[in-house]
Amino acid sequence: MTEKKAYLNIEGHDPIELPILSGTLGADVIDISNLGSHGYFTFDPGYTSTGACKSSITYIDGEKGILLHRGYPIEQLAEKSDFLEVCYLLFYGELPTAEEKSEFIKTIGTHTMAHEQLSFFFRGFRRDAHPMSIMCGVVGALSAFYHDAMDITDARHREITANRLVAKIPTLAAMSYKYSIGQPFVYPRNDLDYASNFLHMMFATPCEEYKVSPVLAKAMDRIFMLHADHEQNASTSTVRLAGSSQANPFACIAAGIATLWGPAHGGANEACLQMLMEIGDESRVDEYVERAKDKNDPFRLMGFGHRVYKNYDPRAVVMQKTCDEVLAELGINDEPLFRIARKLEKVALEDPYFIEKKLYPNVDFYSGIILRAIGIPTSMFTVIFALARTIGWISHWNEMVSEPYRIGRPRQLYTGHPQRDYPE
Ligand code: CMC
Repeated sequence: MTEKKAYLNIEGHDPIELPILSGTLGADVIDISNLGSHGYFTFDPGYTSTGACKSSITYIDGEKGILLHRGYPIEQLAEKSDFLEVCYLLFYGELPTAEEKSEFIKTIGTHTMAHEQLSFFFRGFRRDAHPMSIMCGVVGALSAFYHDAMDITDARHREITANRLVAKIPTLAAMSYKYSIGQPFVYPRNDLDYASNFLHMMFATPCEEYKVSPVLAKAMDRIFMLHADHEQNASTSTVRLAGSSQANPFACIAAGIATLWGPAHGGANEACLQMLMEIGDESRVDEYVERAKDKNDPFRLMGFGHRVYKNYDPRAVVMQKTCDEVLAELGINDEPLFRIARKLEKVALEDPYFIEKKLYPNVDFYSGIILRAIGIPTSMFTVIFALARTIGWISHWNEMVSEPYRIGRPRQLYTGHPQRDYPE
């Protein structure tokens, strides 16, 4: 097969030949990595047209609303798999055999406790600190515990790091919540499955046992799975960029957590629920849709729109189904916020503004309602996203570090002063 090429014609220059690369799925990419040697850089703030790496972990077709992890559609994984199995799939590349899966569960179990010394870090935070700010700090602090023994060129060390992160992140997430409400930390229980253990650490107290509802644990597990990875989004790209300098991986994950926090990214689930509460009544939905369309109003419909999906976010479809199940199981399916969400979705999907701009509900539109029904406070929503996305981040970091890579170093279009002399 002949290799396709692109030619860039710049006035006064011979055409510059650029190779075109093909992946297994998706659009071909024009390889511009050599363009700098011709005296030009490309300009693409927001990276809307730029592929920053090769990856074989996750594939998204935004036009068709397809999300594949290692080739498996998210709908099938949500139906047949569970979060820890998806963690294994993302990191190792294949689904585990039954034996590999039970070995993996055992391994994760051996790492669930956080170093006791780490609990003192929490006391440095105000009680009213946002749990995401605590997560940025304590996950970054893990690097202090596992630095000297960490050789990022050693595949086994990278694997242990991934295991530690997947195992400890629910413990730290639950600790950040317990700290904020002034309750003692609850230690992990390895006889419980991953999601049940998280709920136990969130809601048990030393004086009272917490009975984990299997329905809620299943919903929690599904929320974890639906957030596990999403190719080169802002936080994953940040983890890769931080990792490209060969920084400690725990510190890189902390950088990912910081990036996820914003309302345009992982913070949207919290912002979405706050928006639904602010709307407060189905009768006010039209008013808010009008505000979202008004260019002079900064308000946007949270949980709507996506950089890549120009169709229904496939995760939102599964999320909506889970939402139905959870609310029905809890007998609260006439919950006002859910009714507002349903109406908002209907009005927006029929509105020419949202149709033209291809703005559909994203994963965060329904996740907040489920989390709220489970009893998770709003300030913990993005923490849960971070917990789940940790496996995606570390899998991408591992993929990058396993192959030859260079430090990430974008260029710029300088628009400042030309050179000038310091005033006499
Ligand atoms: N409500 C109203 N208008 C919107 C919205 C919205 N939620 N999203 C996009 N638009 C409009 C936007 O005003 C712009 O209009 P125009 O072309 O007239 O200037 C157009 O649609 C394109 O928007 P954009 O901001 O240029 O698109 P983007 O790809 O840079 O941003 C986004 C994507 C997700 C940040 C954006 O859609 C948004 O702010 N959504 C609300 C926040 C949200 O739900 N974020 C969660 C994303 S999914 C979870 C995750 O992956 O983290």
